[in-house]
Amino acid sequence: MVGSFDPKLFIDEKVEWLRREIGEETAIVALSGGVDSSVTAVLGFKAVGNRLRAVFLEDGFMRLGEADRVKKVFRELGLEVHVFDVSREFIGALRGISDAEEKRKCFRETFYKTFSRIAREFGARVVLQGTIAADVVETQAGVKTQHNVLEQIGIDPLTRYGFKVLEPIKDLYKDQVRLVAKALGLPDEIVKRRPFPGPGLSVRIVGEVTEEKLAIIKRATAIVDEELKDVECFQAFPVLLEGRATGVTHDGKRKYGYMMALRVVESKDALTAKYVRLEWSKLERVRDRILAEMPEVTRILYDITDKPPATIEYE
Ligand code: XMP
Repeated sequence: MVGSFDPKLFIDEKVEWLRREIGEETAIVALSGGVDSSVTAVLGFKAVGNRLRAVFLEDGFMRLGEADRVKKVFRELGLEVHVFDVSREFIGALRGISDAEEKRKCFRETFYKTFSRIAREFGARVVLQGTIAADVVETQAGVKTQHNVLEQIGIDPLTRYGFKVLEPIKDLYKDQVRLVAKALGLPDEIVKRRPFPGPGLSVRIVGEVTEEKLAIIKRATAIVDEELKDVECFQAFPVLLEGRATGVTHDGKRKYGYMMALRVVESKDALTAKYVRLEWSKLERVRDRILAEMPEVTRILYDITDKPPATIEYE
């Protein structure tokens, strides 16, 4: 995908394009801490400076400590990030929904509903969004609805949510986005950051989301991030599976516990992926910490499925 791609030329063209498209309006971008939204924000900042507002929506499904991390990184780049806690709305909206596609749609509606309210507060009528090519390709192919894909599936954001959407990196694949991030001078912790899905940890709890499951997946995600931070891979994360498995306590009593899968994959463009042959010692370390720190979990499985036939995420 990278081929003859020239990130500097791309940046010049897109900054110019954004400047033209935003005109005299105020624009807004939602940062997630990932490379796509970060690149989009910096392109927008270069185009219109402080007429771009950057926000972080704490939707309850982000990783632990993410809001502070994002604020700190962007403060160093000269961009202030406004944090809004909208977690009650998201958790409430998803309650009782267990179908994967329904959860994605509900997450998307709640996202744009809260986000458009915030955009109005800032007087912003233009939204910059870090949609990338893989999001569009897979949504259009019907693999699954990426939560940030709108116009391409027939939703007009202006009539539905009251703002115009600009997607400066929608023709790029992940490896190209990383080249642009580097050329923009973003720090390595962003350039190399592993992808995180738009609907966040909601798609890493298979089936219905509860506050208990959410607390477990957040803690497990932090453990996996810590233990596998040096592993060369595209993504590494835990998933809380549906249902319970029978277990036994140390004093011989039966107990039911949650099942958790660990997914570690290598990929270039997210369209295909291969599972990583992780060292046993690393697997055991993750297993030991999860079982010791979360007694509600009693079984850990390692996912050895490639994409295809599996997708990277579980929902
Ligand atoms: P799948 O699970 O479809 O994931 O094989 C491919 C890549 O996309 C990420 N992902 C998303 N990214 N919005 C995003 O911006 C989404 O709704 C979304 N869902 C999945 C996933 O983490 C993987 O890198």
